[in-house]
Amino acid sequence: METYKYSKGPALMARAEKVIPKGIYGHLGATYLIPNEAYPLFSERTQGAYFWDVDGNKFLDYMCGFGPNILGYNDPDVDAAVMEQMKKENCSTKPTEKLIELAELMVDTVDMADWAMFCKNGGDVTSLALLIARAATGRRKVILVKGSYHGVSPWMQSPGPGHGGIGPEDLTDNIYVDWNNADQVEQAIRDNPGQIACFMSTPYWHPVSVDNQMPADGYWQKIRNLCTSNGIVLTIDDVRCGFRMDAAGSDKYFGFKADLMCFCKSLANGWTISALCGADALKDAAKSVFYTGSYWLAAVPFAAATACISKIKRVNAVQHMKGIGEKFTKGLVEVAKSHGHKLVASGHPSMFFIRHVMEDQQTALPFHRAFIAECVKRGVYLTSFHNMFTCYAMTDKDVEFSLAVADEAYRELAKNFKVN
Ligand SMILES: Cc1ncc(COP(=O)(O)O)c(C=O)c1O
Repeated sequence: METYKYSKGPALMARAEKVIPKGIYGHLGATYLIPNEAYPLFSERTQGAYFWDVDGNKFLDYMCGFGPNILGYNDPDVDAAVMEQMKKENCSTKPTEKLIELAELMVDTVDMADWAMFCKNGGDVTSLALLIARAATGRRKVILVKGSYHGVSPWMQSPGPGHGGIGPEDLTDNIYVDWNNADQVEQAIRDNPGQIACFMSTPYWHPVSVDNQMPADGYWQKIRNLCTSNGIVLTIDDVRCGFRMDAAGSDKYFGFKADLMCFCKSLANGWTISALCGADALKDAAKSVFYTGSYWLAAVPFAAATACISKIKRVNAVQHMKGIGEKFTKGLVEVAKSHGHKLVASGHPSMFFIRHVMEDQQTALPFHRAFIAECVKRGVYLTSFHNMFTCYAMTDKDVEFSLAVADEAYRELAKNFKVN
């Protein structure tokens, strides 16, 4: 199998760096893509489960745009709804009926939802959730889980390298606890009586670079009870997991009911929209906040989201994505074993994280990065630091192709991998 070459990509990067700080900034940038030269830099077109880079290389995309690609790139049903709405209008002085249609669909689909509001990015709705929690409780503080990501507003970041402009004063209202540790949450509530507005967390723990962790038995029920008995707003950040584990919400999947739920990535198959869903008890607080943006009530993304959610439910995309993720991760563990390696997969199968385990952990990370790089250079786009995603457009044939590539990647490493 020929490995991919990149020439136009690096040339575009040089051009970009002249006029854009870092060339590509944020999560689509190259900071974590090690070794850099194994990865494509710019994409040119997409279809289904695939993207093609500017050098014409074709990739089976297990990053799915970091989540928005849920049905398959250029999904015909979503794009037809988009084209139909585009002929009428997009961004005007008044919202269209599409706004209400989508809110009704969210309320029908998401188990805990009595109402919905819409923004553009995940960070817009996690910030909105905190604002509403503060308005509802008259309190300031928020309990967050260490290592979790909720977006880029200063209060969601941590000061340090790569986080310019953020200082400790941005985080004065934050209290951090470990994942799966209800005792720490209880202690934080005791230490800050009558001051905590919100407990915000993803439904399970999916930080970068470490095994993802499911909630322990009874964890969410304990957190639910603590929040209820202390008047704290329980907010689930379902920006990444939403519609990938259960279309009715990840709180439903884990058997509890959140007060606020944040959605984004999979809502509209890549069209720009995020959503906050809430319980009736918080409707007045939601009415009391001022929150808006130039494009937030534009009609096309509402049409896209309505078509996307309807199709996810109609075709049972959740089940399909889980099946593909299970086949791929189980297959990968077997292929690794056949080459004498141990690979572990964690997280929900449709949002899996993988890593290699070795006696010498110093070697495990460079080996893992080298393995991923060999897969990428052969057309299976994975990353070594982040969880990956499956989408509805992926097929069993795609999984077979991926496993054949993994097999070849191990052969290549057996010949050439050296620890520096
Ligand atoms: C769990 C979670 N919350 C919030 C965000 C922020 O979303 P956005 O980048 O759209 O602001 C992300 C983005 O990756 C996320 O994964």
